[in-house]
Amino acid sequence: MSDIGTLETQILADIAAAADEPALEAVRVAALGRNGSITALLKTLGAMTPDQRREQGPSINGLKDKVTDALAVRRDALKNAALDERLSTETVDVTLPVREPPTETGRIHPISQVIDELTAIFADLGFAVAEGPDIETDDYNFTKLNIPEGHPAREMHDTFFFNPKPDGSRLLLRTHTSPVQIKTMLTQKPPIRVIIPGRTYRVDSDQTHTPMFHQVEGLVIDKGSHLGHLKWILEEFLKAFFEVEQVKMRFRPSFFPFTEPSLEVDIQCRREKGEVRFGEGDDWLEILGCGMVHPNVMRNCGLDPELYQGFAWGMGIDRIAMLKYGMPDLRAFFEADVRWLSHYGFRPLDLPTLAGGLSG
Ligand code: DAH
Repeated sequence: MSDIGTLETQILADIAAAADEPALEAVRVAALGRNGSITALLKTLGAMTPDQRREQGPSINGLKDKVTDALAVRRDALKNAALDERLSTETVDVTLPVREPPTETGRIHPISQVIDELTAIFADLGFAVAEGPDIETDDYNFTKLNIPEGHPAREMHDTFFFNPKPDGSRLLLRTHTSPVQIKTMLTQKPPIRVIIPGRTYRVDSDQTHTPMFHQVEGLVIDKGSHLGHLKWILEEFLKAFFEVEQVKMRFRPSFFPFTEPSLEVDIQCRREKGEVRFGEGDDWLEILGCGMVHPNVMRNCGLDPELYQGFAWGMGIDRIAMLKYGMPDLRAFFEADVRWLSHYGFRPLDLPTLAGGLSG
C-alpha cells in the first residue's frame, strides 16, 4: 500500500514537472505503457488470491484512474500554454497591402500593344482591319501578287512549305501579309481602305529575325488614288505612332513585284547610345516598303486598273515596336519570360487611344 502511495506521489510529481507534450507522453508510457509501472502492478492482480485482490484491486485501479485523469488535465494545460505562446509571438500585420489582382499584375505583350496602337491610328483615318489565314496557298502568297513560278522574288522569301498534296500543289506559311490584299480585293468592292496586321513566317533566325514575326500591310483602292495620298497617310501614321511633332521621310525607288512604281521609305532619326530618336538628327532608317498596286495584281483580282488605282505598303511590326520601345533583341519577344514581360509589357486596362495617349 505504501508502495502504491510512493508510486502515486512520484508519478503525479513527474506529470506536474513535464514541460511539454512529448515529456508528458514519456511519463504516460513509463506508467501506463506496455512495460509501465502501473501496468506491472495491474498484472500482479491475476496471481493474487481473491482476498488479496479485494484488498489491493481498488487501490491499484484507483492509482490508474488518478494518473489517467492527471495526465489529461496536464495535457490540456500544456496545449493551452502552447497555443498562448504561439498567439503571443505570431502576429498578422493587417496593414500590409493585399496581393494585386490579375488586372493589375498581368501585362499586355508589346506586339499586342503595338497592334492596338496601329489599329487606333488607322481607324481614325477611316481604315478597317482585315485578316487572313497563316496557312496560305502558293497562288495567294505569290502568283496573284505578280510573283509567278520561277520568279527570283520567290527565292528571297525563304518559305516554309507543307508537304505536297497528291495534285502536286503545296500549302505554305504565309511569308508576308500581302496575300490578304488579294483576299480583300477578291471579296470587297472599292473603295477599299484596310490595314492587315498579322503573323508571318520565314526560315530565318538571328538577333533581328525570328522564324515567326509580324507585319502590317495597308491597302487603299479607289478611283483616283495616288502617291500623294500614300505619302500623307504614312506621314500622319508615323507622327502619331512615334508620338512626335514631325517626321521627315525620304522615298527611295525600289522593287516589289506587286507594286509599280515601288518605293522604300526611310525616316529621319538620331542614334544615341543605342537608342533611336525620331523627328530629329541626320541619320536615316528604313522603315517600310510601298508603292502603287501593280495593274496585274488588280486584274488578278477582277479589278479594272483603268478604272481603279490603289496603293499599298508593308512594314514589320516587331521592328517598329523595337524602335519605339527600345527593345534590343527580337528573340526575347517570343521567349515568354515573365520578367521581360513585366518590364516591357503594358498595363491591361490602359488601352491605347489617340485622345488618351497611345503608350499611356
Ligand atoms: N510584302 C513585302 C515583304 O514582305 C512588304 C511590302 C512591300 C508590302 C511593299 C506591300 C508593299 O504592300 O506595297 O517584303
